[in-house]
Amino acid sequence: MLLAKPVKKVFTKIFPQAMPDLTGRLANIPIRHFNFKFESKDIDAKFFMQKEWGTAYFAALSIFLTYGEELVIETARYHRDFIKDPILKQRLTSLIGQEAIHSKIHEEYNDAMIPRNFPVQFYRFLAEQVFNHTFLKFPQPLKLSMMAGIEHFTAVFAQYAMNHEDIFNHSLDEKTRALWMWHMLEESEHKDIAYDTYQVLSGDYPLRIAGFFIALATLGLGVGAGALFLPFLRRPKNALSLDFWKEAKGSWDLLFGLKEGVFGSSLGHIFDYLRTDFHPNDHDTNALLEHYKKELLDPVTGTLTPFFVKEFTPALRV
Ligand SMILES: [Fe+2]
Ligand SMILES: [Fe+2]
Repeated sequence: MLLAKPVKKVFTKIFPQAMPDLTGRLANIPIRHFNFKFESKDIDAKFFMQKEWGTAYFAALSIFLTYGEELVIETARYHRDFIKDPILKQRLTSLIGQEAIHSKIHEEYNDAMIPRNFPVQFYRFLAEQVFNHTFLKFPQPLKLSMMAGIEHFTAVFAQYAMNHEDIFNHSLDEKTRALWMWHMLEESEHKDIAYDTYQVLSGDYPLRIAGFFIALATLGLGVGAGALFLPFLRRPKNALSLDFWKEAKGSWDLLFGLKEGVFGSSLGHIFDYLRTDFHPNDHDTNALLEHYKKELLDPVTGTLTPFFVKEFTPALRV
């Protein structure tokens, strides 16, 4: 753990940790397989709101996130053996399965971005230094708290996206839309699993906050820097293009606008994690989830239905 024992004792007194109530949590979260067959020519570099810089954040996120997902998978697998509650164990298997498929399909998407001059290989090299050579070597308790922190941010993004469906509707690129909406749905579906696992196995508040700030630095500053440079690495002429700079304000609003921006309008949700008694389900997304399950997965009209292959629910082992 990060803190010396006496300091930790004082913290625990000031910030008592409640064991999470696991009853009533969604069991039976399916692991869904899809085949999107991405085509490079169809990828819209201005997918989000027709803003190139704003879309660059999500392109960079798509590359870096696969490494975050590997960390989540490795950490969840390690800690699953210490979980006694059969439902939480089953839910952890669902988390591992969903993240494994996210990572696989985002890699397919990232590969499809390469012929379109996205700096995928360079960003993969950078991500390997950060994740494979640094984060994955951290002690397991810190990785557990980083897993909970990463999953908090993906839950925030998912809730934002579910409340702002319009951001997906400014492009003809149906597969990018399907990819992000599927990911959004599942991040919200499994948003409490990493947190519950952390609370059951550790519950240490300062360590949880350390994981939060590492996730914030990675997804905010790290991916943010990737997004900042991406349009120029992809197309150096952007630096001289008047149209590109005219769009910059719109990209800023998409990401940081206090009213409607991804980060700007989610600040309250992001920093709510600092509450000692925070729980992901304090932000109720059940109605949104039901709405999007119907919209995305309906066997006839679902947006994801043309790409759906099969689904599987891990067994409950008691
Ligand atoms: Fe994911
Ligand atoms: Fe996730």
